[in-house]
Amino acid sequence: MNNFDKNEPIVSFKNVCVAFKNTRVLKDLSFDIYPGEIVTIAGPSGSGKSTILKLLGNIIRMDSGEIVVNASRLGMAFQKSALFNSMTIWKNVALALEETTNLSKKKIRKKVKETLEMVSLSYTENMYPDELSGGMQKRISIARALVVSPEIILYDEPSTGLDPGIASKLEDDMIKLRDKTGVTSIVVTHDVETIKKVSDRVLVLYDGKIKWEGTKNEFITDNSPYPRSFRERCTIEDLLSQT
Ligand SMILES: Nc1ncnc2c1ncn2[C@@H]1O[C@H](COP(=O)(O)OP(=O)(O)O)[C@@H](O)[C@H]1O
Ligand SMILES: [Mg+2]
Repeated sequence: MNNFDKNEPIVSFKNVCVAFKNTRVLKDLSFDIYPGEIVTIAGPSGSGKSTILKLLGNIIRMDSGEIVVNASRLGMAFQKSALFNSMTIWKNVALALEETTNLSKKKIRKKVKETLEMVSLSYTENMYPDELSGGMQKRISIARALVVSPEIILYDEPSTGLDPGIASKLEDDMIKLRDKTGVTSIVVTHDVETIKKVSDRVLVLYDGKIKWEGTKNEFITDNSPYPRSFRERCTIEDLLSQT
């Protein structure tokens, strides 16, 4: 388990602004995430969810504001699994360790084995990504994110493109991983089933800001347009215009 003070945010966004050309995507966005939580950032398509993860992964830069991350290792599970098709599953997962650590071959072997066991896919180690189903590829991409023992794992739309049963299994894995390792988990999604299943806390991103925040139970019962739009599968605009 990671040894963090649960009352001290592990991630803090303070008045973060990002614009692409003339479009302001994040407008003074502020939120905190605490160690060991599974937080979902729920927002409609185009609301800036992936932008938040790219900021955390240092893939893009903000225009203004401040981001504090009290962790040294971040794992990122992408929307598309982005595995290397010419490499075995074993190699795909081992690569991050070979490139970023000085661990011995023996230690790498042990760590990769443990990590593949966590997603119940040890038997695939000599297979190639093409030989795996979409759901299995996603679980391998999670294993690849986890193999460096991250303090924070980022999931971008984990259930997209998966059959409901497979998505649900993947979500079980996400919860199990947190319970087992204490990894802080940030999940961005627009999928109401994912939100209802995995979240300790939900933040609704809309118009560049967090417009609503609550526990999973509050998300399921609150009548504000922000959670309701996901439950009723309509747009937030529709509900806002009715009030
Ligand atoms: N590199 C980029 N250049 C220009 N526009 C971008 C770029 N990345 C994202 N955008 C735009 O920013 C908005 C938010 O994108 P994104 O964070 O991917 O949304 P989400 O993940 O919530 O669907 C979208 O309108 C998208 O078209
Ligand atoms: Mg996205």
